[in-house]
Parts: sequence; structure tokens; C-alpha cells
Amino acid sequence: MEQLAILGGEPAVRTDPGDIFDWPIITEEDEAAALDVLRRGAMSGTDVTVEFERDFAEWHGVKYALGHNTGTASLHSAMFGCGLGVGDEIICQSMTFWASVLQAMNLGATIVFADMDPETITLDPDDVERKITPRTKVIMAVHYMGYPTDMGPIMELANARGIKVIEDVSHAHGARYKGQLVGTIGHVGAMSCMSGKALAIGEAGMLITDDQEIYERAIAFGHYERTGQIEHPELQKLAGLPLGGFKYRMNQLSSAVGRVQLKHYQERMEEIQRAMNYFWDLLEGAPGLQAHRPPPDSDSTMGGWYSPHGLYVPEELGGLSVEDFCAAVRAEGARTSPGANFLLHRHPVLNEADVYGDGTPTRIAHADRDVRQEADSLPKSDSLPERVYSIPWFKHYRPEIIREHAAAFRKVVAQAGALLDRS
Ligand SMILES: Cc1ncc(COP(=O)(O)O)c(C=O)c1O
Repeated sequence: MEQLAILGGEPAVRTDPGDIFDWPIITEEDEAAALDVLRRGAMSGTDVTVEFERDFAEWHGVKYALGHNTGTASLHSAMFGCGLGVGDEIICQSMTFWASVLQAMNLGATIVFADMDPETITLDPDDVERKITPRTKVIMAVHYMGYPTDMGPIMELANARGIKVIEDVSHAHGARYKGQLVGTIGHVGAMSCMSGKALAIGEAGMLITDDQEIYERAIAFGHYERTGQIEHPELQKLAGLPLGGFKYRMNQLSSAVGRVQLKHYQERMEEIQRAMNYFWDLLEGAPGLQAHRPPPDSDSTMGGWYSPHGLYVPEELGGLSVEDFCAAVRAEGARTSPGANFLLHRHPVLNEADVYGDGTPTRIAHADRDVRQEADSLPKSDSLPERVYSIPWFKHYRPEIIREHAAAFRKVVAQAGALLDRS
């Protein structure tokens, strides 16, 4: 067996990856669309955005889509749209990007974290049920790193209690849960479309819903120039000023590029799916490594596989740490790093910061009890940072290159003993 590169051997990855990792794919069509907006001086208008919203709504088969200038803004609007306010509780998972939930503090709501399923790294519906109280207004279901949350039981829990479900689709554009597009299962979906995402169109976000009240409340919150289209009589009376004091309009350079990207997204996403599934097929059975993807017979998919990760089982590799594992794989020339987003429930902003001068930590400023969660209060979540690692995000199905990268991972697990002997 060839010696590990980290111990002085030849790296497993020898071929130039070319454009296999490049994203987004920008062609003259995108350039022409952006130039048209620039030349018309239409960056701050809404004509292209309204067309993009129409495309987006049609893709998802929903009534309403509302463009935003960031995913953070779209999620904030979704929270307000659902009526989340002072003293209400929102349940979310702890391992996610902060913008899945932090905006709730700005609405005076209380953030409660539920544990995650360590196989899917999404909300564990059983723990969600344990965390529900009479104050729970919203459940935030994050389709984390592309994996669709188990929406069936979550919708059952929510609908039985009049709780609203927001889907954070930022990592999962085009993913399906049991055949249904994510973002269309909860009461409202919201998502980032910033440049690093699978649907990458610049700083941008989108909210989608079938619920007229959520849609109109979202308009009223951050889209002052569109309040004229609101039908709700109470909201209509307030038209002209944004209720949140926010300006959340999408930049039309993004919506113009978005229309072009969307046209090609299905085809490009399918190639990513083929490439990523091939990578995992090659690693099937490798000790210590487990795919983070739905079972093939589940009719669920990973969409554009944003930020793909694997599950790490150190017990199968003699206890080799995920850091040492990743360092050895990187030395072989493949892209990987340990962990994923840090756990929010441990961060001082959620435990100590008095952001608005309430004289108490903002997280509990309007709570009926201290909901702050100790470091070991979410056992499955707490174990995750040592059990996940990123994998290469292939945008093209190029089997020879993908095989080399998979070989890098296999080479390291096959010689985990040599790494352990070294330390
Ligand atoms: C899960 C998740 N939610 C929300 C956001 C916020 O989106 P944006 O950066 O477009 O504001 C991001 C990422 O950026 C994210 O990863």
C-alpha cells in the first residue's frame, strides 16, 4: 500500500481538477442580463424581481414568492409573517448558520434549541415535541447541508397545535422530501441565494408561501414600496412605511442573474447529484465514513448538495480524531475540513449578551423561564462537531477525477493505524 502523503508518500490526487469545483457557472447569458439592468439603471427597481418571483413561484408550485436582499432578511420576514413576537418561542436546531434563527431575538421572541438527529443533522422530531410549550409559535426546520428535515412528523406536531413551520431552504434548493420540493411543505419557506450557495445569484434571498397573510405581513415588514398590493385591511391602513423599519428589496442585478441561473438550475443540479452520489458510492463500506444523504429508496434528495459533509465514526478507526483524519486527507490532495457550523446554544450571544439593554440576556428578556441550555443539554448535537467533516463539492460528473478524490479518503482510512501510531 502506498505510504500516506502526510507521512512522506505521494498524494492520491494527481490530476488537475480543472473546473470541477467552480461555481456558479456564469455564461454570456448571465452577463447580458446583468448588463441590461446596469445600462437601464434599474438596480433598485422591481420589474425584473417580480418576474424572477413569478419564475420561482412557478418552479415550486406556490402562490407567492417575495425577493429579498439577503437570506437573513427573507427568514426575518418569514418569522414576522408567522406572527412571531414578544414572548413567543421558536424552536430550531443548534448546529446551523446563525441566520436560521438569531433574527428572532430582534422580534422579542425566545429561541429554544431542540436536539438533532445525528444521521441527518436536522431536527429530531421527538425532541421538538419535548421542547414545545404553550408559547411555541414557530418551528424552524433547516434542511441542513442539503438533507431534508423529517417534515412529516414535524408538520403533524405543528398542525395539531396551531404552530407555524418555516423551512430554511438555504442549503437545499431543489431538494425533495419524499418527492415534494422543500420549502413547500411548511407554512413558509425562506432561503439564501448568496454567491456560495447552490442557487448562487449574489447577496439575495427568497420567501415562498401559499399563505396570503404570511406573504402580506412579509411585504408590510420590509417592502415599503410594495405595500400598495396588500389586501389585508389592518395592514392596508399602515401602507407606505415598513413595519419593521427594514428595507429588504432585492437588488435587480441578482434577480436578473437569478432568472438565468434558475433556467439552468435543474440540469446543473442533476449533474451535481450524479457526481456526489458517485463519490459516496465509491466510499460505500469504508470504515469510519458514512454518507450524509437520504436512502436511495426514500424519494428524498439533496438538491444542489450545498456544503456536502460526511458522518465520521471514530470508533471504527481506533479513535482517530476527525482533525487528524482531515489533515491526512488534505495532504492527499482532497478537500476536507473537520466539523461544520458551531453549536449556537453554546455561544455567548445566546447566553450572555444583552443586545437591546433589557437588563437581562436578550435570549430570555421576554421568556417565562430561563431557557438557556447547558453545554451537555443536547447530547446528540453536542457530539456532532467531532462526527462531521466536509467533502469535496463536485459540480460535474467526471468519474476519473472523482475516483481520485474518493481514493484519497479510502487511503487514509485504510492506514488509520499508521496515523494513530504517529501520535
Ligand atoms: C442555513 C442558512 N440560513 C440562512 C443563511 C443566511 O443567508 P444570507 O447569507 O443570504 O443572509 C445562510 C447563509 O448564508 C444559511 O447557511
